[in-house]
Parts: sequence; structure tokens; C-alpha cells
Amino acid sequence: MPQNAVKIAPSILAANFARLGEQVAEAERCGADRIHVDVMDGHFVPNISMGAPVVKSLRQVTRLPLETHLMISDPDFFFDEFVEAGSDSFIVHWEGDNNLHRTIHRVKDLGKRVGLAINPATPAGVLQEVLPDLDLVLVMTVNPGFGHQHFIHSTLAKIQRVRRIIQQVRPGCELELDGGIDATTASLGVKAGANVLVAGTSIFSASEGVAAGMKHLLAATKQTRT
Ligand code: DX5
Ligand code: ZN
Repeated sequence: MPQNAVKIAPSILAANFARLGEQVAEAERCGADRIHVDVMDGHFVPNISMGAPVVKSLRQVTRLPLETHLMISDPDFFFDEFVEAGSDSFIVHWEGDNNLHRTIHRVKDLGKRVGLAINPATPAGVLQEVLPDLDLVLVMTVNPGFGHQHFIHSTLAKIQRVRRIIQQVRPGCELELDGGIDATTASLGVKAGANVLVAGTSIFSASEGVAAGMKHLLAATKQTRT
């Protein structure tokens, strides 16, 4: 695979939890780059999802990196628990964190990769000060809290802006999109500058199954690159 290949991060939020291990293994066989775990606390976002025990179980069934997207208040309280369970990287939100520099450095001190997520209404400019410390920027292409939402097209201009800032400040930083990603929006997002795509519904709820969902997404990103 070329070095600049677009990476796919299946979000297990859309998986059948009764068959989670099986579905994750299938996504891995079909070329997933990492598994995206959405953690929600019913406070930072109006929904609850899963916690460290799910990461611990996944650690037994996949060799892929486990990317932990923390949509929770006070993420700092939970890093140790997730690291022990097997998380490889953390994505924290810019919104609502009054001590973001400290949060980012807590993750780095634990030896884990760190990403920063920005919601659709948050401008790209907030990245400027923290970007040198980041491994990844996650542009939310829906409002966080739920799977199965529609991609917000007005985020495309911001994705382009984020790509420009990354090229200027920290070219090695990944640019990931999360929310409403299917073959069509994947292509738009990659054209705008993304190189990692989170996808839940279009993989785990694909009508023809996980393998077909992965295949369509990978095909869309390959077409966009050539
Ligand atoms: C939304 C989550 C996403 C979501 C993506 O708050 O962060 O990761 O599960 O799911 P789809 O692909 O269904 O939009
Ligand atoms: Zn997510």
C-alpha cells in the first residue's frame, strides 16, 4: 500500500454487540487500519455508550490499534483505566476542557498517541497552539453523540483549512473525519484533505455485510487518490 493510503477506522458503535468480536475480526481481515471506540457519558453528549470493559474484551480479539474517542466530561480521570484495558490512542475534545494542554500531556506521558477532536461549530483556528503536540486531529462531521447521522457538508471547507494548518505546522499529523462517512462522503472528505476516516453505519450496518461495507469504502478512497 502507498504510504499516503487513506486509513479506515471502523466505529463499533454501529456493530451488533452480540457479535462484536466476530464483526471486528471481519473488519480487520478486510483492511481496517484501527478500531474506533466511541465512549459517551450522557453528560458531555446526550447519550451513553461503552467503557473500558469493552476495550479489554476487544484487546483479546484483534491486533489492530484501539483508538478511544472520549466524548466525556473530565477525560483525565479515565486514562489509566483505558490504558490498562488496552487502548492505544486517545481522542479528546477541545470543547469543554479548560486544561487541554494538561490533558494532552497526560496522554503523552502515558506513552499513548493523542488526538484532538473539534465539533462542527468549532473553528479550525483553535488548533494553532496545540497542534505541535498532536498525533491526530479529528474533525467531527456530525455533532457528537449518535451514530447514523448525516454528514454535515459545511465542514468540508473547515477540513481544507485544517489540512493547510497541518501542512504548515505539523505535516506528520493525521487528519481524521468522524460521522456520516459512506462511499460518497469519504471521497469528498479525502479530496478536502483527510487521511483517516471513521465509519460506523456504512461498515457495521451495511446491508450486504461488513466485508461489502469495507470494500465500498476502500474503493471510494482509492478512486479519490488516483
Ligand atoms: C459520533 C461518533 C462516531 C459515530 C460514527 O458521536 O463519534 O464515531 O459512531 O458513526 P456513523 O458512521 O454511523 O456516523
Ligand atoms: Zn467517534
